[in-house]
Amino acid sequence: SRKPMRVLITGAAGQIGYAIVAMAANGDMLGQDQPVILHLLDIEPAKQALQGVKMELMDAAYPLLVDVVATTDLQEACAGVEVAVMVGGFPRKAGMERKDVMAKNVSIYAQQARALEAHASRDVKILVIANPANTNALMLKEHAPSIPAENITALTRLDHNRALAQIAARAGTHVSNVRNVIIWGNHSSTQFPDVAHGTVDGRPIREVLRGEEDAAWLDGEFVETVQQRGAAVIKARGLSSAMSAASSACDHIHDWFNGTAPGKWVSMGVYGDGSYGQPAGLIYSYPVTCQHGKWKIVQGLEIDSHCAAKLKASADELLEERELALACISEAAAAAQ
Ligand code: NAI
Repeated sequence: SRKPMRVLITGAAGQIGYAIVAMAANGDMLGQDQPVILHLLDIEPAKQALQGVKMELMDAAYPLLVDVVATTDLQEACAGVEVAVMVGGFPRKAGMERKDVMAKNVSIYAQQARALEAHASRDVKILVIANPANTNALMLKEHAPSIPAENITALTRLDHNRALAQIAARAGTHVSNVRNVIIWGNHSSTQFPDVAHGTVDGRPIREVLRGEEDAAWLDGEFVETVQQRGAAVIKARGLSSAMSAASSACDHIHDWFNGTAPGKWVSMGVYGDGSYGQPAGLIYSYPVTCQHGKWKIVQGLEIDSHCAAKLKASADELLEERELALACISEAAAAAQ
């Protein structure tokens, strides 16, 4: 049988952590033939809860789960991991400025980047979920220069899956019959869910949803629903999306390692190369295909002027976030002198 893979999950005592450890131990992340050793990291105040999660993983007797390392020690958590799912972060609390949250997360991601660089497997593949996901991923990249930029990604697959689900419900079909929507840009309300190249049962979405009402829905309510879905779940559940975030994170990693089906693409926040006229050097969500453990941005899609403006607006927000993050880093460096 195959050699077990070590998978790091940070923030493992949190909400998404609770859902994703079960999925990873059950083969949803790396496949039904891939044994795993889970490395669970959280911080001191969550130490006891983390032990509880480890107890439950034992009790569930998952056939693919070989071992569990539950720790608050960052070095130990990173040792030899081939996959790192970064869920831990500092949440925005009432009364906090955006900049304060950014400063906390930038320093967490800088520290974790250095630990991954020093202790993880040379080819570790990283998925950042904690918000601001794209900018946290970028800061991780900046502080881990020896990790290839292509190995550092951010989660927009949840937004992608939300878009597929909305289209399926509207078209009255199963979600597996909808393909190739695109989430462009930031994992935030400036993201642009684009249906121009998507299909339902192999037919263009705009051909299937062609009536006047459907067209208006696609241009208006659909876009807002996807952009605001996170807030709607918080309103309904009193807690933010966790099971769907965990499941989408498994989809992201599964497709990255195992490849996308021919003709199918998915959305991933990746280190941009200037594709579609967006600034290089941002972690930006693009349509990608995956093969042999590598992603590739889908090229040559036609972009109309409305879509181009949306792409630019989200890039502008990411440039602003990057600026703010870099300012936090230089302030911290100055304070340390
Ligand atoms: P949570 O608050 O339930 O869990 C976060 C966990 O991280 C806590 O157990 C906390 O102790 C831990 N933590 C904090 N600092 C840490 C550090 N330095 N190292 C290791 N662990 C640390 O939050 P939840 O609901 O699990 O969400 C986690 C993050 O994911 C949030 O930032 C949330 O905004 C983000 N998110 C992103 C989505 C996406 O699509 N990209 C979707 C849903 C949530």
